[in-house]
Amino acid sequence: MKIVQVKDKKFTLSIPESEILKGVTEVAERINKDLADKNPLFIGVLNGAFIFAADLFKRITIPCEISFVKLASYQGITSTGRVKEVIGLNEDITGRTVVIVEDIVDTGLTMERLIDTLGTRNPKEIHIAALLVKEQKLKVKLNIEYKVLSIPNDFIVGYGLDYDGLGRNLPDIYTVVE
Ligand code: IMP
Repeated sequence: MKIVQVKDKKFTLSIPESEILKGVTEVAERINKDLADKNPLFIGVLNGAFIFAADLFKRITIPCEISFVKLASYQGITSTGRVKEVIGLNEDITGRTVVIVEDIVDTGLTMERLIDTLGTRNPKEIHIAALLVKEQKLKVKLNIEYKVLSIPNDFIVGYGLDYDGLGRNLPDIYTVVE
């Protein structure tokens, strides 16, 4: 069993990169079919989604654009429940088909906030692509059409996700060892 140390915690390998990429490819193929001729604007949520957004975007074969926003609700390994402001959205999304690209949906509060904020800018439609969903922790109802994987309620790092800023560079996903 592969174990890595990130700061003061040990993490064990839980989802190898090959499995992640298989799921990302499947989601990309669905988006290519569903959103063909819609010139979707992908909006990646920094920092955590940067690797997922890159791997997903490379597999999109229809005309499309990408931009990034930043917001955060996490410090350490427990959710603060506070959701920060959405910053950095300069594009005019009026009448556009938007696909939010998020690393992980935990309580869903971050995603809800993002959808509310983008919704005030008159997009035609908003879709959600999420690499990971902690189904048991969801507090709000979300229609996550493009989900790569569901995971249990454990803290994870790797493939863009961090523990106190560290671990984003791990190619695979690791789960904290309690
Ligand atoms: P939510 O608002 O509770 O859904 O939290 C979503 C955000 O929390 C994600 O975009 C991540 O930045 C962060 N997050 C949630 N769970 C984890 C985890 O297990 N590891 C690293 N970050 C996480």
